[in-house]
Amino acid sequence: MSRVIAIALMYLVSISDTNSGQASACNLGPRLNCYCSFVESVGKYSVDCSGLRFDGGPIGTLEIVNPGGRDIYRITFRDSGVTDIVENAFDNMPNLFSLNLRDNQITAFPANAMRRLQLVEEIDLSYNYLTDIPNDTMDHMTSLRDFEAQGNRLTTIGSNAFIGQSSSLQEIDFKYNQLTGIPDAVKTLSALRILDMSYNTFSPSNLPSGIFNNMNALTSLDLQTTYILNIDPQAFVGLESSVDRIVVANNNLTTLERCTFEKLTALTTLWVDSNPFVCGCELAWLERFFASWPVWRQARCRPVSGGSEVNITDFVSQNCGGYQPPACP
Ligand SMILES: *[C@@H]1O[C@H](CO)[C@@H](O)[C@H](O)[C@H]1NC(C)=O
Ligand SMILES: *[C@@H]1O[C@H](CO)[C@@H](O)[C@H](O)[C@H]1NC(C)=O
Ligand SMILES: *[C@@H]1O[C@H](CO)[C@@H](O)[C@H](O)[C@H]1NC(C)=O
Repeated sequence: MSRVIAIALMYLVSISDTNSGQASACNLGPRLNCYCSFVESVGKYSVDCSGLRFDGGPIGTLEIVNPGGRDIYRITFRDSGVTDIVENAFDNMPNLFSLNLRDNQITAFPANAMRRLQLVEEIDLSYNYLTDIPNDTMDHMTSLRDFEAQGNRLTTIGSNAFIGQSSSLQEIDFKYNQLTGIPDAVKTLSALRILDMSYNTFSPSNLPSGIFNNMNALTSLDLQTTYILNIDPQAFVGLESSVDRIVVANNNLTTLERCTFEKLTALTTLWVDSNPFVCGCELAWLERFFASWPVWRQARCRPVSGGSEVNITDFVSQNCGGYQPPACP
Protein backbone atom coordinates (compact mmCIF):
# COMPACT_ATOMS: atom_id res chain seq x y z
CA MET A 1 0.00 0.00 0.00
CA SER A 2 2.68 2.50 0.95
CA ARG A 3 4.60 4.06 -1.88
CA VAL A 4 8.35 4.16 -2.01
CA ILE A 5 10.18 7.37 -2.42
CA ALA A 6 13.70 8.17 -3.46
CA ILE A 7 15.12 11.41 -2.20
CA ALA A 8 17.78 12.73 -4.53
CA LEU A 9 19.62 15.88 -3.61
CA MET A 10 19.33 17.68 -6.88
CA TYR A 11 19.09 21.36 -6.19
CA LEU A 12 22.07 23.25 -4.98
CA VAL A 13 20.93 26.04 -2.72
CA SER A 14 23.80 28.26 -1.82
CA ILE A 15 24.07 29.55 1.71
CA SER A 16 23.00 33.03 0.74
CA ASP A 17 19.79 31.56 -0.69
CA THR A 18 18.76 29.90 2.55
CA ASN A 19 15.77 32.13 3.01
CA SER A 20 14.56 32.05 -0.57
CA GLY A 21 12.01 29.33 0.24
CA GLN A 22 13.24 26.72 -2.24
CA ALA A 23 10.36 24.25 -2.26
CA SER A 24 10.73 20.52 -1.92
CA ALA A 25 9.10 18.86 -4.91
CA CYS A 26 8.00 15.39 -6.01
CA ASN A 27 7.31 13.81 -9.38
CA LEU A 28 6.33 10.37 -10.48
CA GLY A 29 9.04 8.34 -12.20
CA PRO A 30 9.40 4.57 -11.99
CA ARG A 31 8.98 5.37 -8.33
CA LEU A 32 7.91 8.56 -6.66
CA ASN A 33 10.92 10.86 -6.68
CA CYS A 34 11.21 13.86 -4.46
CA TYR A 35 13.94 16.43 -4.35
CA CYS A 36 15.08 18.24 -1.29
CA SER A 37 16.76 21.55 -0.98
CA PHE A 38 20.03 21.80 0.83
CA VAL A 39 22.56 24.22 2.13
CA GLU A 40 26.27 23.44 2.15
CA SER A 41 28.76 24.89 4.54
CA VAL A 42 32.40 23.78 4.69
CA GLY A 43 31.54 20.43 3.13
CA LYS A 44 28.65 19.71 5.47
CA TYR A 45 25.10 19.57 4.17
CA SER A 46 21.90 20.63 5.84
CA VAL A 47 19.01 19.06 3.93
CA ASP A 48 15.38 20.16 4.08
CA CYS A 49 12.71 17.76 2.80
CA SER A 50 9.79 19.34 4.63
CA GLY A 51 6.28 19.45 3.22
CA LEU A 52 6.79 16.75 0.58
CA ARG A 53 3.57 15.85 -1.19
CA PHE A 54 2.57 14.24 -4.44
CA ASP A 55 -0.95 15.03 -5.59
CA GLY A 56 -1.64 16.07 -2.01
CA GLY A 57 -0.95 12.55 -0.69
CA PRO A 58 1.53 11.40 1.92
CA ILE A 59 4.81 10.00 0.65
CA GLY A 60 4.60 6.76 2.65
CA THR A 61 7.73 4.71 3.13
CA LEU A 62 10.89 6.76 3.10
CA GLU A 63 14.05 5.76 1.28
CA ILE A 64 16.91 8.16 0.81
CA VAL A 65 19.29 8.48 -2.12
CA ASN A 66 22.33 10.57 -1.46
CA PRO A 67 24.21 10.84 -4.76
CA GLY A 68 27.85 11.68 -4.33
CA GLY A 69 27.76 10.57 -0.72
CA ARG A 70 27.41 14.09 0.60
CA ASP A 71 28.31 14.57 4.21
CA ILE A 72 24.90 15.31 5.72
CA TYR A 73 24.84 16.70 9.26
CA ARG A 74 21.24 17.82 9.44
CA ILE A 75 18.14 16.40 7.71
CA THR A 76 14.54 17.49 8.14
CA PHE A 77 11.38 15.74 7.01
CA ARG A 78 8.77 17.86 8.63
CA ASP A 79 5.15 17.26 7.64
CA SER A 80 5.96 15.04 4.68
CA GLY A 81 3.50 12.22 5.27
CA VAL A 82 6.21 9.72 6.20
CA THR A 83 4.61 6.53 7.54
CA ASP A 84 7.72 4.40 7.89
CA ILE A 85 11.38 4.36 6.97
CA VAL A 86 13.42 1.72 5.15
CA GLU A 87 16.02 -0.05 7.20
CA ASN A 88 19.12 1.52 5.66
CA ALA A 89 17.69 5.00 5.13
CA PHE A 90 20.33 6.88 7.12
CA ASP A 91 23.21 4.44 6.68
CA ASN A 92 25.22 6.77 4.48
CA MET A 93 25.01 9.66 6.94
CA PRO A 94 27.47 8.62 9.65
CA ASN A 95 28.01 12.23 10.73
CA LEU A 96 24.34 13.09 11.11
CA PHE A 97 23.97 15.51 14.00
CA SER A 98 20.28 16.40 13.76
CA LEU A 99 17.28 14.36 12.58
CA ASN A 100 13.85 15.97 12.38
CA LEU A 101 10.82 13.76 11.59
CA ARG A 102 8.22 15.98 13.20
CA ASP A 103 4.57 16.01 12.05
CA ASN A 104 4.47 12.69 10.21
CA GLN A 105 2.52 9.43 10.63
CA ILE A 106 5.22 7.13 11.95
CA THR A 107 3.72 4.37 14.12
CA ALA A 108 6.82 2.41 15.20
CA PHE A 109 10.05 3.77 16.60
CA PRO A 110 12.37 3.75 13.54
CA ALA A 111 15.08 1.75 15.29
CA ASN A 112 16.47 -0.06 12.24
CA ALA A 113 16.78 3.09 10.17
CA MET A 114 18.67 4.80 12.98
CA ARG A 115 21.01 1.96 13.86
CA ARG A 116 24.07 3.58 12.27
CA LEU A 117 23.55 6.99 13.80
CA GLN A 118 26.30 7.15 16.38
CA LEU A 119 26.91 10.90 16.52
CA VAL A 120 23.37 12.21 16.43
CA GLU A 121 22.73 14.87 19.06
CA GLU A 122 19.16 15.96 18.31
CA ILE A 123 16.15 13.82 17.38
CA ASP A 124 12.68 15.24 16.89
CA LEU A 125 9.86 12.68 16.54
CA SER A 126 7.11 14.99 17.79
CA TYR A 127 3.57 14.65 16.45
CA ASN A 128 3.77 11.13 15.12
CA TYR A 129 1.81 8.03 16.20
CA LEU A 130 4.44 6.33 18.35
CA THR A 131 3.16 4.16 21.19
CA ASP A 132 6.45 2.96 22.66
CA ILE A 133 10.18 3.45 22.78
CA PRO A 134 11.63 -0.03 23.13
CA ASN A 135 14.70 -1.09 25.11
CA ASP A 136 18.03 -1.22 23.26
CA THR A 137 16.99 0.86 20.26
CA MET A 138 19.15 3.90 21.03
CA ASP A 139 22.03 2.32 22.96
CA HIS A 140 24.55 3.35 20.29
CA MET A 141 23.56 7.04 20.30
CA THR A 142 25.85 8.04 23.09
CA SER A 143 25.99 11.72 22.03
CA LEU A 144 22.23 12.30 22.03
CA ARG A 145 21.48 15.53 23.90
CA ASP A 146 17.94 16.43 22.92
CA PHE A 147 15.05 13.99 22.44
CA GLU A 148 11.70 15.46 21.40
CA ALA A 149 8.64 13.18 21.31
CA GLN A 150 5.81 15.57 22.08
CA GLY A 151 2.33 14.75 20.80
CA ASN A 152 2.62 11.00 20.23
CA ARG A 153 0.62 8.16 21.83
CA LEU A 154 3.39 6.94 24.07
CA THR A 155 2.34 4.56 26.81
CA THR A 156 5.58 2.58 27.25
CA ILE A 157 9.17 3.67 27.55
CA GLY A 158 11.42 0.61 27.92
CA SER A 159 13.13 0.76 31.28
CA ASN A 160 16.52 0.58 29.50
CA ALA A 161 15.57 2.80 26.56
CA PHE A 162 18.01 5.60 27.50
CA ILE A 163 20.80 3.50 28.93
CA GLY A 164 23.23 4.74 26.26
CA GLN A 165 22.41 8.36 27.07
CA SER A 166 23.01 8.30 30.80
CA SER A 167 25.61 11.04 30.59
CA SER A 168 24.61 12.82 27.37
CA LEU A 169 20.87 13.44 27.40
CA GLN A 170 20.03 16.98 28.53
CA GLU A 171 16.51 17.53 27.29
CA ILE A 172 13.40 15.34 26.93
CA ASP A 173 9.99 16.43 25.75
CA PHE A 174 7.19 13.92 26.41
CA LYS A 175 4.41 16.51 26.47
CA TYR A 176 0.99 15.34 25.20
CA ASN A 177 1.41 11.59 25.52
CA GLN A 178 -0.26 8.86 27.57
CA LEU A 179 2.44 8.17 30.12
CA THR A 180 1.36 7.35 33.67
CA GLY A 181 4.37 8.74 35.52
CA ILE A 182 8.04 9.65 35.25
CA PRO A 183 9.42 6.71 33.22
CA ASP A 184 12.06 4.59 34.98
CA ALA A 185 14.35 5.11 31.97
CA VAL A 186 14.38 8.85 32.73
CA LYS A 187 15.12 8.52 36.44
CA THR A 188 18.75 7.55 35.88
CA LEU A 189 19.61 10.45 33.55
CA SER A 190 22.11 12.38 35.61
CA ALA A 191 22.80 15.00 32.90
CA LEU A 192 19.15 15.77 32.14
CA ARG A 193 18.42 19.49 32.47
CA ILE A 194 14.95 19.90 30.98
CA LEU A 195 12.07 17.44 31.40
CA ASP A 196 8.60 18.14 30.04
CA MET A 197 5.99 15.57 31.13
CA SER A 198 3.01 17.92 30.87
CA TYR A 199 -0.37 16.75 29.55
CA ASN A 200 0.07 13.10 30.51
CA THR A 201 -2.22 11.30 32.95
CA PHE A 202 -0.30 10.14 36.00
CA SER A 203 -1.64 7.02 37.64
CA PRO A 204 -1.32 6.73 40.57
CA SER A 205 -1.89 10.45 40.64
CA ASN A 206 0.95 11.49 42.91
CA LEU A 207 4.62 12.38 42.88
CA PRO A 208 6.30 9.80 45.10
CA SER A 209 9.33 10.19 47.36
CA GLY A 210 12.76 10.20 45.75
CA ILE A 211 11.79 9.99 42.06
CA PHE A 212 14.30 12.69 41.06
CA ASN A 213 17.00 11.43 43.39
CA ASN A 214 19.47 10.65 40.58
CA MET A 215 18.62 13.59 38.34
CA ASN A 216 20.91 16.11 39.94
CA ALA A 217 21.30 18.33 36.86
CA LEU A 218 17.58 18.99 36.38
CA THR A 219 16.80 22.71 36.08
CA SER A 220 13.34 22.73 34.50
CA LEU A 221 10.47 20.35 35.32
CA ASP A 222 7.06 20.73 33.68
CA LEU A 223 4.24 18.66 35.22
CA GLN A 224 1.37 20.82 34.08
CA THR A 225 -1.93 18.95 33.57
CA THR A 226 -0.80 15.52 34.75
CA TYR A 227 -3.74 15.06 37.18
CA ILE A 228 -1.55 14.87 40.27
CA LEU A 229 -3.41 15.06 43.57
CA ASN A 230 -0.44 15.21 45.90
CA ILE A 231 3.31 15.62 46.06
CA ASP A 232 5.28 13.61 48.59
CA PRO A 233 7.33 15.89 50.91
CA GLN A 234 10.46 14.01 49.70
CA ALA A 235 9.56 14.10 45.98
CA PHE A 236 12.16 16.72 45.04
CA VAL A 237 15.09 15.31 47.02
CA GLY A 238 18.11 15.45 44.73
CA LEU A 239 17.10 18.70 43.07
CA GLU A 240 18.11 21.02 45.95
CA SER A 241 20.81 22.92 44.13
CA SER A 242 19.72 22.46 40.51
CA VAL A 243 16.04 23.04 39.88
CA ASP A 244 15.19 26.58 38.81
CA ARG A 245 11.69 26.11 37.40
CA ILE A 246 8.79 23.82 38.41
CA VAL A 247 5.36 23.93 36.80
CA VAL A 248 2.54 22.04 38.56
CA ALA A 249 -0.28 24.22 37.23
CA ASN A 250 -3.67 22.78 36.32
CA ASN A 251 -3.51 19.67 38.48
CA ASN A 252 -5.70 18.37 41.31
CA LEU A 253 -3.65 19.74 44.20
CA THR A 254 -5.61 20.96 47.19
CA THR A 255 -2.55 22.23 49.05
CA LEU A 256 1.20 22.58 48.63
CA GLU A 257 3.56 22.03 51.55
CA ARG A 258 6.08 24.81 51.97
CA CYS A 259 8.67 22.37 53.33
CA THR A 260 8.53 20.26 50.15
CA PHE A 261 10.00 23.24 48.27
CA GLU A 262 11.95 24.96 51.05
CA LYS A 263 15.30 23.29 50.38
CA LEU A 264 15.20 23.97 46.63
CA THR A 265 17.64 26.86 46.85
CA ALA A 266 17.87 27.45 43.09
CA LEU A 267 14.10 27.63 42.55
CA THR A 268 13.01 30.98 41.09
CA THR A 269 9.91 30.04 39.09
CA LEU A 270 6.99 28.01 40.46
CA TRP A 271 3.66 28.01 38.65
CA VAL A 272 0.77 26.48 40.59
CA ASP A 273 -2.34 28.15 39.19
CA SER A 274 -5.53 26.29 38.27
CA ASN A 275 -5.47 23.81 41.14
CA PRO A 276 -8.39 23.29 43.54
CA PHE A 277 -6.50 24.79 46.50
CA VAL A 278 -8.30 25.08 49.81
CA CYS A 279 -7.64 28.52 51.29
CA GLY A 280 -5.36 28.52 54.31
CA CYS A 281 -2.47 30.54 55.70
CA GLU A 282 -0.13 27.62 54.93
CA LEU A 283 -0.34 28.78 51.28
CA ALA A 284 1.11 32.20 52.17
CA TRP A 285 4.66 31.14 51.20
CA LEU A 286 3.60 30.88 47.55
CA GLU A 287 3.48 34.64 47.32
CA ARG A 288 7.20 34.97 46.88
CA PHE A 289 6.85 33.23 43.51
CA PHE A 290 3.90 35.21 42.20
CA ALA A 291 6.13 37.90 40.74
CA SER A 292 7.65 35.27 38.39
CA TRP A 293 4.26 34.52 36.84
CA PRO A 294 2.86 35.77 33.55
CA VAL A 295 -0.12 38.06 34.10
CA TRP A 296 -2.63 35.58 32.71
CA ARG A 297 -1.92 33.12 35.51
CA GLN A 298 -4.01 33.59 38.64
CA ALA A 299 -3.41 31.95 42.01
CA ARG A 300 -6.78 31.20 43.52
CA CYS A 301 -8.12 29.12 46.37
CA ARG A 302 -11.54 28.00 47.52
CA PRO A 303 -12.67 29.12 50.99
CA VAL A 304 -13.13 26.26 53.50
CA SER A 305 -16.63 27.61 54.11
CA GLY A 306 -17.46 27.12 50.43
CA GLY A 307 -18.31 29.80 47.93
CA SER A 308 -16.39 31.03 44.94
CA GLU A 309 -12.62 31.11 44.55
CA VAL A 310 -10.60 34.01 45.84
CA ASN A 311 -7.20 35.33 44.95
CA ILE A 312 -4.56 33.84 47.28
CA THR A 313 -2.85 37.22 47.71
CA ASP A 314 -6.12 38.77 48.85
CA PHE A 315 -6.88 35.84 51.16
CA VAL A 316 -3.47 36.00 52.81
CA SER A 317 -3.50 39.77 53.28
CA GLN A 318 -6.94 39.62 54.90
CA ASN A 319 -6.49 36.52 57.08
CA CYS A 320 -2.88 35.74 57.82
CA GLY A 321 -1.50 38.84 59.57
CA GLY A 322 0.20 37.16 62.53
CA TYR A 323 0.72 33.76 60.90
CA GLN A 324 4.00 32.00 61.68
CA PRO A 325 4.77 29.03 59.42
CA PRO A 326 5.92 25.91 61.29
CA ALA A 327 9.60 24.99 61.07
CA CYS A 328 10.56 22.47 58.40
CA PRO A 329 11.91 19.09 59.57
C1 LIG B 1 13.59 -3.64 29.22
O1 LIG B 1 14.70 -4.22 29.88
C2 LIG B 1 14.52 -4.44 31.28
C3 LIG B 1 15.83 -4.96 31.86
O2 LIG B 1 16.28 -6.04 31.16
C4 LIG B 1 13.36 -5.38 31.51
O3 LIG B 1 13.13 -5.54 32.89
C5 LIG B 1 12.09 -4.81 30.84
O4 LIG B 1 11.02 -5.69 30.98
C6 LIG B 1 12.37 -4.55 29.37
N1 LIG B 1 11.20 -4.04 28.69
C7 LIG B 1 10.53 -2.92 28.98
C8 LIG B 1 9.37 -2.59 28.11
O5 LIG B 1 10.85 -2.19 29.89
C1 LIG C 1 -8.97 16.30 38.66
O1 LIG C 1 -9.43 17.49 38.05
C2 LIG C 1 -10.22 17.29 36.90
C3 LIG C 1 -10.54 18.63 36.26
O2 LIG C 1 -9.97 19.70 36.90
C4 LIG C 1 -11.48 16.57 37.30
O3 LIG C 1 -12.27 16.34 36.16
C5 LIG C 1 -11.11 15.25 37.94
O4 LIG C 1 -12.29 14.61 38.42
C6 LIG C 1 -10.16 15.46 39.09
N1 LIG C 1 -9.72 14.15 39.57
C7 LIG C 1 -9.64 13.85 40.86
C8 LIG C 1 -9.20 12.45 41.17
O5 LIG C 1 -9.88 14.65 41.74
C1 LIG D 1 -4.51 38.91 42.87
O1 LIG D 1 -5.35 40.02 42.63
C2 LIG D 1 -4.64 41.22 42.42
C3 LIG D 1 -5.63 42.34 42.37
O2 LIG D 1 -6.94 41.92 42.12
C4 LIG D 1 -3.88 41.10 41.11
O3 LIG D 1 -3.18 42.28 40.85
C5 LIG D 1 -2.90 39.97 41.25
O4 LIG D 1 -2.24 39.76 40.02
C6 LIG D 1 -3.59 38.70 41.66
N1 LIG D 1 -2.55 37.78 41.98
C7 LIG D 1 -2.56 36.51 41.60
C8 LIG D 1 -1.33 35.76 41.88
O5 LIG D 1 -3.50 35.99 41.08
